[in-house]
Amino acid sequence: MVDELNIKGFRLFPGHLDRQAQEVMVADLRGVLAQAPLYRPVTPRGKAMSVRMSAAGQFGWVTDRRGYRYEPRHPDGMNWPPIPASIRSVWTALAGCARMPECCLINWYGEDARMGLHQDKDEADFTAPVLSISLGDDGLFRMGGVERGGKTASHWLRSGDVVVMGGEARLAHHGVDRIRFGSSSLLPNGGRINVTLRVVT
Ligand code: SIN
Ligand code: MN
Repeated sequence: MVDELNIKGFRLFPGHLDRQAQEVMVADLRGVLAQAPLYRPVTPRGKAMSVRMSAAGQFGWVTDRRGYRYEPRHPDGMNWPPIPASIRSVWTALAGCARMPECCLINWYGEDARMGLHQDKDEADFTAPVLSISLGDDGLFRMGGVERGGKTASHWLRSGDVVVMGGEARLAHHGVDRIRFGSSSLLPNGGRINVTLRVVT
């Protein structure tokens, strides 16, 4: 369990969103993705990521040959749509932060998608937490420390779970080893959506 790492500022809210709230959020996300479609990002080294991404808010996090950064527009040129109220309200309830998120990054995991251990460190203000919402299939979340190569622990995140990484956990390494494809009935075609809310500037 992630608890055993005892990283202050890591908070898990299991089942924070009930089924109806999850369905509303998925419908809102479909609206966002109709305007700003999922695309497959490429790492600065030129490797296609297995996760597909889009975003809402003033900024979207992007990666391509030019590096990791926040951009005010989708790679196809359109503005990112506003962050849906259903998602902003989770921040207001749980983040404990006076600032509102400026980026809602949307990650879509298909059957073989994963995300390697990394830190979220392209934001200017690390006093604001990162809040993550899981929807759809279970995902095996791995969490480590701030230093690279330290001890890690894993936890299956389920649909409706919310994680807040603030304080010491804000710069902790984290990633997703695999998903349990088809484990949830929320998304008719399977897969996992993870939404992360970030203050960028
Ligand atoms: C991320 O670190 O951006 C995603 C984490 C997750 O999918 O749970
Ligand atoms: Mn991350």
